[in-house]
Amino acid sequence: MKLIFLGPPGAGKGTLASRAVEILKLSLGEEHPHISTGAIFRSAIAAGSPLGLKVKAILDSGKLVDDQTTIDLVRERLAQADARTGYILDGFPRTIPQAEALAGFSPGLTSPVDRVLNFDLSDTAVLERLGGRRVCRTCGHNFHVVFDKPKAEGICDHCGGEVYTRDDDKPEAVQRRLEVYRAQTAPLIDYYRARGILTDVDAGPPVEQVVENFKRALGLRGA
Ligand code: AP5
Repeated sequence: MKLIFLGPPGAGKGTLASRAVEILKLSLGEEHPHISTGAIFRSAIAAGSPLGLKVKAILDSGKLVDDQTTIDLVRERLAQADARTGYILDGFPRTIPQAEALAGFSPGLTSPVDRVLNFDLSDTAVLERLGGRRVCRTCGHNFHVVFDKPKAEGICDHCGGEVYTRDDDKPEAVQRRLEVYRAQTAPLIDYYRARGILTDVDAGPPVEQVVENFKRALGLRGA
């Protein structure tokens, strides 16, 4: 299944995507790589690669990386063997030109998008989630200082890596990301709804309930 996770910053797309990979494996018996453009950019920054040097200031400020750079990156990633039958795109597309480009990708003979899940969350909840988010520098797992604390402060439960606060979770950058979301990404909701492939998912409840909402949205049972 080829899925897009759409929603404002902090809606829980990354958190849900990690769970969705397990659920899809159990219910459909297939691997679905979690492809997060934000995570790819953050790895490039950590590695100090030419891409990382190019995008660091953009991510820190909360603006979007230019469409062509992002489209080329995703086209290359979707051409890899593990993305042939399905994937979860988290954070792409984020503009109408990116959606148009994705529609023209042809991994195999099938459509590059089966379903778009729109994770809906109020601005107040976004601020609460991003204000308390902590991320593992090594494996990328998301924690929250209230909703999902690491067992030992500052240390990842899963890999022992260092848990840190993302630069773009500072209040000025979060405000900018919300503005950018409304102006450039929210129009994708109507774009995909008009094509009949968008399902709304209430992202407001605790994670386990959102997992149930996700399964219901895809008609998955018993996973
Ligand atoms: P990206 O990393 O994609 O950021 P984002 O879309 O703003 O999403 P986030 O990662 O902030 O949030 P999320 O929805 O994944 O929430 P999470 O699961 O972490 O992109 C970063 C930057 O890269 C962009 O600003 C841009 O510069 C660039 N970029 C990326 N893609 C691009 C593109 N296509 N084009 C151009 N530029 C691009 O959860 C948040 C917190 O809430 C966590 O602490 C979590 O533990 C907690 N939480 C999650 N769910 C729940 C719940 N149900 N209840 C309580 N707490 C919860």
